[in-house]
Amino acid sequence: MATLGMTLFHSTGSPFVRKVMLVLHETGQLEQVALHGVQLSPINPSAALNAGNPAGKLPALGLADGSVLHDSRVICDYLDQQHGSTPLIPRDGPSRWQRLTLASLADALMDAAVLIRYETFLRPADKRWDDWVQAQQGKIDRGLAQLEHEAASAPHGPFDIAAIGIVCLLGYLDFRQPQLGWRTRCPQLADWYAAVQERPSVQATQPSA
Ligand code: BEZ
Repeated sequence: MATLGMTLFHSTGSPFVRKVMLVLHETGQLEQVALHGVQLSPINPSAALNAGNPAGKLPALGLADGSVLHDSRVICDYLDQQHGSTPLIPRDGPSRWQRLTLASLADALMDAAVLIRYETFLRPADKRWDDWVQAQQGKIDRGLAQLEHEAASAPHGPFDIAAIGIVCLLGYLDFRQPQLGWRTRCPQLADWYAAVQERPSVQATQPSA
């Protein structure tokens, strides 16, 4: 752990860690955080991470006072309270609940995509449960349809916590489900996603193994 500032338990493959990285980039706080790389799977825990987050899940953020924040929603909320620019999470009004709900949908679809990754990559082939994978994929399919509807009705919304979540979701689908072909089903979402690729924060946080 860094002696000053913050330490982020980090993995370049985790879409939830990427959310936090995007918030750090977008709010100018990157310099205040040391990254602690963790190679993690459900059956390969990290003792250092477990000490801060008993659930053993990424991301976790160690603060200068020794306390540890988790999960990604809590960390993003915390970081968004630490800067003086336009908040990434609307502070009040209907937009707060609308954007947080959209961000929550992106989180849920990322959860489903990560669970599919574990089931199809980590679990021994003779123990895999195809119906369960299909059910997780159904969440992604329904969620993408909802996100396409959102992109069609509000194509140029702010690059806020909802946009960040959707970037992380779509980036993770490209990373782990390149065969999905979501762009064909979601052309407006694809246009929006192509436009936001120009942001330095998005370019700097592409997922990798
Ligand atoms: C992945 O590589 O797919 C991954 C890595 C960390 C957390 C979740 C997923």
